[in-house]
Amino acid sequence: MTHSHEKVETNVGMMAVLIAVAVSFGGLAEIVPLMHQAEAIQPLPGVKPYPALQLAGRDVYVREGCYNCHSQMVRTLRFETERYGHYSLAGESVYDRPFQWGSKRTGPDLARVGGRYSDDWHRVHLHNPRDVVPESNMPGFPWLSENKLDGEQVAQRMQALKTIGDPYTDADIAGARAAVDGKTELDAVVAYLQGLGRHAPRGG
Ligand code: HEC
Repeated sequence: MTHSHEKVETNVGMMAVLIAVAVSFGGLAEIVPLMHQAEAIQPLPGVKPYPALQLAGRDVYVREGCYNCHSQMVRTLRFETERYGHYSLAGESVYDRPFQWGSKRTGPDLARVGGRYSDDWHRVHLHNPRDVVPESNMPGFPWLSENKLDGEQVAQRMQALKTIGDPYTDADIAGARAAVDGKTELDAVVAYLQGLGRHAPRGG
């Protein structure tokens, strides 16, 4: 007597199709509700698209591959929240394209680093980390202070983000050039780092 599942088990093509169907049901059940869940797609109160200087800093952060050593996601584990602060919420990163959550931590998580150090500390640290943290194995980024920002490029970037839905106003975009005028990549990265986690819920 041939059982129907024996038919499936002896027919690789049919088995592959049925596996794909079964897996896609699982995927749909997990993914589709998330697309409609307000807390996953709405910004937390106070979370706005990055101002020009911070946006430029974020681009440098991505270009330099800081994410290879730093995550930006505090997990819901006690030892994490005691060290870094409140665990990360999806509503904090709605304007992060691409998001910088990550899982590789050669250095500490940076999701809550805004305000932890002074601007001057960051400047020295980014230039040569060992000047402030002698045991650090983070590389220095001395060229950041030599590279000037290009206001036109930042404005175009904001325009592109607006096209895909970020609520930048025309005034934001028109002001981008003035906002980054004369500033270096170092100024931008420091501004970006100082803004991280500012709108996170308080407490562990
Ligand atoms: C090869 C790995 C590596 C890379 C790449 C790297 N870092 Fe680090 N970072 C570390 C380590 C390790 C530490 C901890 C020691 C220290 O403070 O220097 C650290 C510390 C930091 C801190 C202090 C965090 C705290 O809470 O004390 C900041 C801020 C930081 N890094 C920013 C950056 C930025 C911005 C970049 C990219 C421009 C970057 N890092 C690239 C490894 C790295």
